[in-house]
Amino acid sequence: MAPLSGPRPALKTDGYRERIDAALDRATQFDADCPARLREAIRYALLAPGKRLRPRLVLMACEACGGDVDAAMPAACAVEMVHAYSLVHDDLPAMDDDDLRRGRPTCHKAFDEATAILVGDALLARAFDVMAAELQPASVAAACCAILARAAGATALVGGQAADLEMAAAKPDDGSAGVSELKAIHRRKTGAIIRASLELGGCVAGSSAEELAALVGYGERVGLAFQIVDDLLDVAGDPAAVGKRLSKDADHNKLTFPRLLGREVSRQEAHKLTDEACAMIEIFGSRAAPLIELAKFVCTRHA
Ligand code: IPE
Ligand code: IPE
Ligand code: MG
Ligand code: MG
Ligand code: MG
Repeated sequence: MAPLSGPRPALKTDGYRERIDAALDRATQFDADCPARLREAIRYALLAPGKRLRPRLVLMACEACGGDVDAAMPAACAVEMVHAYSLVHDDLPAMDDDDLRRGRPTCHKAFDEATAILVGDALLARAFDVMAAELQPASVAAACCAILARAAGATALVGGQAADLEMAAAKPDDGSAGVSELKAIHRRKTGAIIRASLELGGCVAGSSAEELAALVGYGERVGLAFQIVDDLLDVAGDPAAVGKRLSKDADHNKLTFPRLLGREVSRQEAHKLTDEACAMIEIFGSRAAPLIELAKFVCTRHA
């Protein structure tokens, strides 16, 4: 089950992807007040062939708790919008300065930097618009907006991105950063949105406290495993499969798992987290199967 070698696991054709993409398409039509070029750039970034892991997690968490997948779709769309915005901004020259994303030129390369900044702004706003307008009842909409706002903010996604850049700007040999600092960065920049995806699904389904705790425990572990594998793919992935430039982390002096612990220990850590994540959701019985399969995919993926 080692990532980066052996058979290439794929996400099951489970119908989730088609439904998610159709909902994202509907949610980004916009009326004539949205300039045509901005609309095109928003849809270029959002509808590009990403894995749609986070919206899948929302829907699977909702199903695991016995909820209705259609009721959770606005939250699934919202989380993918926040994710897509974070990728567009992450790729900007002032951040990771990347030119390839999801196998295509990054948004600022295909359009221009100002447009890419505005694409991110628009996707972030639209995420909350969709949830506020479409989630029912209003108390669930408010709770979901609060969950995603917290996960996207200065103590989570944005804070993690800031810490990631700060750490990369520090002298490589200053020795101040260890595994706990790295975990704290990954927990915020990547883990928070993944954890929130699970919480959103649970919230829509009206999960019990016990179910929510299981989803959060799973989300935290899968979130960290996800970024460990992302770091591994950067050093040892297949560029054609990954759809991003590789070896960028070393070029940018990023603090990563393989840099601190080496590839083998990093892989072991991802496997350990995946096993723990799967154990945490045993309470869902057979309804946990899609989440278990997804966690294993995250750990062994090539893309
Ligand atoms: C990439 O996320 C950014 C990280 C948090 C590491 P994904 O690998 O899920 O990107 P897409 O959505 O499939 O393009
Ligand atoms: C970014 O982590 C996480 C985000 C919040 C976008 P990375 O910078 O490692 O993501 P990639 O490798 O560019 O997708
Ligand atoms: Mg980055
Ligand atoms: Mg990056
Ligand atoms: Mg990366």
